[in-house]
Amino acid sequence: SAAEKGGYDYFMLKEIAEQPQAIADTLLGRLSERGDIVLDEVRLTDQDLRDVDKVFIVACGTSYHAGMVAKYAIEHWVRIPCEVELASEFRYRDPILDRSTLMIVISQSGETMDTLMALRHAKEQKARVLAICNTNGSTIPRESDAVLYTHGGPEIAVASTKAFVTQLVACYLIGLHLAQIRGVMYADEVAAVVSRLRRTPDNLRELLTRMEDVRELARDLKTASTILFIGRHVGFPVALEGALKLKELAYMHAEGFAAGELKHGPIALIDEGTPVVCVVPSPAGRGVLRDKVVSNIQEVRARGARTIVIAEEGDDEVAAYADHLILVPRTPTLLAPLMTAVPLQILACEIAAARGHDVDQPRNLAKSVTVE
Ligand code: AGP
Repeated sequence: SAAEKGGYDYFMLKEIAEQPQAIADTLLGRLSERGDIVLDEVRLTDQDLRDVDKVFIVACGTSYHAGMVAKYAIEHWVRIPCEVELASEFRYRDPILDRSTLMIVISQSGETMDTLMALRHAKEQKARVLAICNTNGSTIPRESDAVLYTHGGPEIAVASTKAFVTQLVACYLIGLHLAQIRGVMYADEVAAVVSRLRRTPDNLRELLTRMEDVRELARDLKTASTILFIGRHVGFPVALEGALKLKELAYMHAEGFAAGELKHGPIALIDEGTPVVCVVPSPAGRGVLRDKVVSNIQEVRARGARTIVIAEEGDDEVAAYADHLILVPRTPTLLAPLMTAVPLQILACEIAAARGHDVDQPRNLAKSVTVE
């Protein structure tokens, strides 16, 4: 009913709007006054976590995209090798695991069969399994050695939105916690990231107040025959996520690429007017990355692409290459997906609605996939 949807046309729109609160709730109680990470509810001892020499992250769909972002954060902060893999592929390739492997499984529902089977496989190999899950008491956390719950609240729409951003937060917390107890990051470095994380709910609230342009753009793009998404570094999983949302909701052809891979093939797809959504990294810090994406934008534009550019506030130069510019609040590079993914959720939702689809219940899909 309309009341259940809190006045929104779709649960998905309601859940998109709930994201700032979902992030705040997931941070709640996990940060100390001093600004370090407290994960008391994770039933793995500090010694267990110090013994870890390799991390595997395994998940499906949107949760897998959160895992891809986590890989960048964990390797950068913790300095241990981290692999991320689709649950449906994981156990069939005979992965190498042992008791010093930390396996992180990410699942909103906690019931995804592919993820559960990967978890069981990892346990048979004696790996320690930590679940990131949004559903209390579901099968995946029950079978794991430890769990960090995301506090997104119930997600009704088939398309995952608030679960995704809270999964990112959980991954950041785990990465910082590992870095802290292993002594790889100084307390003040952890505190600096934590203080930026604490600001993300407000940053996102502000971003959500100015999405009118994205809605307008959606009406314009509803007849496109394809939409391509490009990004680098953590912007790459965001590009994949933007494309997945569009496929599942709007039933349109969409594809996400690592921007640097374009010249190895996909750039041949670009034709006059092809919409390309470009996720631009922050110009601060690793400016190199940002400059590389800007040159990729110029390349697609030179071939006729219509560019929809998602960039950070203050990145003034990028406007010159954008047919449509969407500015997001400034964040440290690794946290940027908490901002950049959100306009893409809205874009997909609005394109789907403009095409007359049932946004909350897309065809052929189930909220939780309990078959392999
Ligand atoms: C995302 O919008 C999807 N509907 C889907 O990819 C989902 O993320 C995937 O099935 C994994 O589900 P889980 O997080 O409940 O395990």
